[in-house]
Amino acid sequence: ERTQVVIIGAGPAGLLLSHLLHLAGITSVVLEDRDRAHIENRVRAGVLEHGTTEILEQVGVADRLHREGLVHEGIELRFDGVGHRIPMTELTGRHITVYGQQEVVKDLLARRLADGGDVRFEVADVQVHDVDTAEPSVTYLAGGVRHRVVGDVVAGCDGFHGVSRAAAGDTLHHLDRTYPFAWLGILVHAVPRTHELIYASHQNGFALYSMRSPEVTRLYLQVGADEQVESWPEDRIWDELALRFGLDGEPWDPGRGEIFDVGITPMRSFVTEPMQRGRLLLAGDAAHIVPPTGAKGMNLAVHDALLMSRAIEHWYSTGEETLVNSYTTDALARVWRAQHFSWWMTSMLHKFPGDDQFQHRLQTAQLANVTGSRAYATALAENYVG
Ligand code: FAD
Ligand code: DHB
Repeated sequence: ERTQVVIIGAGPAGLLLSHLLHLAGITSVVLEDRDRAHIENRVRAGVLEHGTTEILEQVGVADRLHREGLVHEGIELRFDGVGHRIPMTELTGRHITVYGQQEVVKDLLARRLADGGDVRFEVADVQVHDVDTAEPSVTYLAGGVRHRVVGDVVAGCDGFHGVSRAAAGDTLHHLDRTYPFAWLGILVHAVPRTHELIYASHQNGFALYSMRSPEVTRLYLQVGADEQVESWPEDRIWDELALRFGLDGEPWDPGRGEIFDVGITPMRSFVTEPMQRGRLLLAGDAAHIVPPTGAKGMNLAVHDALLMSRAIEHWYSTGEETLVNSYTTDALARVWRAQHFSWWMTSMLHKFPGDDQFQHRLQTAQLANVTGSRAYATALAENYVG
């Protein structure tokens, strides 16, 4: 069986790439190891950069996003019991949109299927072959039978735990940082108490107040790297949130309600260089991971997909491989900028084991600078809105 581009993974990167290629008249097959319900309900990121919304709009998949997404023009940084607003739109002319990643996935998938796209779920034992030749291929098991799809290019969009990166072998160089903490995230049936996100820095650690809709709040707590959900009964979560969001020495309750999802996400920074080998190109989490503090993960995946589709399109239309060859260089500039921003936000807002009073004072001085200086606040806002 033959197609032009074999795409592994139906996350934001893989589905958007498939859609962009389709718009350019290029065929693809998307291979996903989970089932449809799983990818449509997997709770992850929630913040879309201004540019990400524009891309989705330009390619015709933003109708529901515009109807249901929540436009935010600022965020709050809260420390030492005082809140400080960063007026992002006033500083940059741009905004962010709060819209769950699984909604983006639903919209992209619906559009692919409406356009006759070939998305295959529940494929097992995916293997990548012959990436150093002009006929790379991917094999997989479905219904107990092994299938092979041959393409001109294989796009590895299968996330951090996928198989694509390893298929490039040891020609890739990995750079990484792990953080000595994780995020416990909850989804709550509760009307958001404030319209904007709150990033709170507290002696006990970081907390983040976010939302998904006018009826659902999304809250995160910094917890130890090895902690289990079982050690966080609901009352403990609520008490800790109220403490960390405290204002003027008083607890600030983020609005209790029924918790309908709890999960713990490890924090790491990771980049693979280059993001390609032969006819295998990597996009999104398959190539890089950022700690979630800067809300960059999904936005980077979207940007990679855009660059990759342009490179492949250029190659088919001109026969020249220039953009394919420069894909890594073109993508990495943005990746490293997001890496720095995510690392910086993470370092500024979290409590690290062993932090002493000196470190705490440095963090506070940094936060005071960011919220007190228009130039500093603008730099944060520019990076945040993308
Ligand atoms: P993914 O969304 O991971 O998609 C990869 C797809 O490939 C998946 O559908 C997967 O099932 C499939 N796949 C995997 N292996 C195979 C295989 N062998 N064969 C076939 N298919 C395969 N970012 C933020 O900005 N804010 C957040 O709050 C946030 N929270 C997160 C929480 C969690 C638990 C995780 C894992 C990530 C979170 N992120 C967050 C990061 C963000 O969700 C990712 O950056 C984004 O999903 C990247 O999109 P992607 O398409 O590259 O990868
Ligand atoms: C959300 C996640 C983030 O990592 C972030 O920085 C802001 C919001 C969220 O899930 O809503």
